[in-house]
Amino acid sequence: MTTTKGFPKNFLWGGATAANQYEGGYLSGGKGLSTLDAITGGAYKVPRKVTFKRQDGSIGEVTREESLPDGAVGYIDENRYYPSHAATDFYHHYKEDIALFAEMGFKCFRLSFAWSRISPKGTDEINEEGLQFYESVIDELLKYSIEPIITINHFDIPMYLADQYDGWSSRKVIDYYVFLCEVIFKRFKNKVKYWMTFNEINFLRSWAQIGIRSSEPQSKFQALHHIFVASAKAVQLGHSINPKFKIGMMVAYIPAYPMSCRPEDVYEAVKRNRQQEFVMDVQCRGYYPNYQLKEFERQGFEIVKEGDDDAIIAAGTVDYIGFSYYMSTVASSDPNAERSEGNQVLAYKNPYLNTSEWGWAIDPLGLRISLSQLYDRYHLPLFVVENGFGAVDKVEDGEIHDDYRISYFKAHIEEMRNAITEDGVDLIGYTPWGCIDVVSSGTGEMKKRYGFIYVDMDDKGNGSLKRLRKDSFYWYKKVIESNGENLE
Ligand code: BG6
Repeated sequence: MTTTKGFPKNFLWGGATAANQYEGGYLSGGKGLSTLDAITGGAYKVPRKVTFKRQDGSIGEVTREESLPDGAVGYIDENRYYPSHAATDFYHHYKEDIALFAEMGFKCFRLSFAWSRISPKGTDEINEEGLQFYESVIDELLKYSIEPIITINHFDIPMYLADQYDGWSSRKVIDYYVFLCEVIFKRFKNKVKYWMTFNEINFLRSWAQIGIRSSEPQSKFQALHHIFVASAKAVQLGHSINPKFKIGMMVAYIPAYPMSCRPEDVYEAVKRNRQQEFVMDVQCRGYYPNYQLKEFERQGFEIVKEGDDDAIIAAGTVDYIGFSYYMSTVASSDPNAERSEGNQVLAYKNPYLNTSEWGWAIDPLGLRISLSQLYDRYHLPLFVVENGFGAVDKVEDGEIHDDYRISYFKAHIEEMRNAITEDGVDLIGYTPWGCIDVVSSGTGEMKKRYGFIYVDMDDKGNGSLKRLRKDSFYWYKKVIESNGENLE
């Protein structure tokens, strides 16, 4: 590992986005519908809704936590607003946006492919125009020597696979996913090196994300098993197509601290942390850990495996760990402890930390703790592929003075540097989330912004889509220029 005083020489500074929150063009260029296209906008504490059609033709809606009725299919109601349809329109702005990324000095850019753009139904029918779109994006990045980092699947699935196969409940979807991988691995064999098989695999649970109707935990774990098998097959296939590929997993890492040194609190933290360690154990070590098998036993869950599944999982371990880090959380054995908000987790309030307007705890040292825990446990290269501060930005005379965002990033980058220089962590890159404003995944809002680049659009989809550089844009440019030395 080539660490110097600070960040390694080839450190991958960049930014991250996802198709369903950024790309738009939801029916352009032959794209098919995705589950995410049937999710309405929400607001803070007002859940987004999945809209569907029942067999009798009536229309209904559920939250993402609820099950869809049997036989219901995803449905788009013309009278509602669905943020993914236009999102912040990367589809029509990619050249302009990539030029801005280049101006900041990005070394890499993380984006996801919309499966239904490459294959409208998610089957073996390929939409050349969709592939061509991604090829143009990748070529544009390479023009500026920006390394593309591809998330193969970020929180969505073609609607057809959800409707016809009940999404990842079906093993058939493993074959279709692997087919998709084969197509993109071959096509971009010499243009893309870094891949991630699934975004935040520990959060894949709803119809919107994985196309399954049931909200029963057993069905979710069964679907997750299929996703593990698909990922492991993709890793093996990718390496056979280009042995230089680096194929990673991606986990939402939210370290849980015990509320106190009471052993019961500490044990609660152990249990909570296992919920995220479990997916890493499977994808990095190649087998289900005993604590998870015991948990299945206790819950009475039977995960149906076929023939070679265990061998496939063992042979398809990943090359690196990509993870998102926004916040830490607290585990408590006291059910009456004060609750707090969080990134898809029910958390307890940490009295030592401030929070964002959306209640996410701000904990830079937690990033160093996470880096150390992950590196000590897996000894794999790490990549912070999401981190950032969701905040309301004010435009004043065409300028955005987002010093709160700069403070957040400064503190987190300092802790990454400490993890590298003091703890010897092998960290290969950093791609702050929503480097350009995108629709919030949790709430569907636009006003929860993360970007260095402002996009003029509101929560209802109104706006000119004009791009503006925030103060953080100029600040991050200096950070990259100095390879993380200048954080002022
Ligand atoms: C991560 C997701 O969980 O958090 C992103 O991978 C998401 O898709 C990000 O946008 C921030 O969450 P939110 O709800 O603020 O958009």
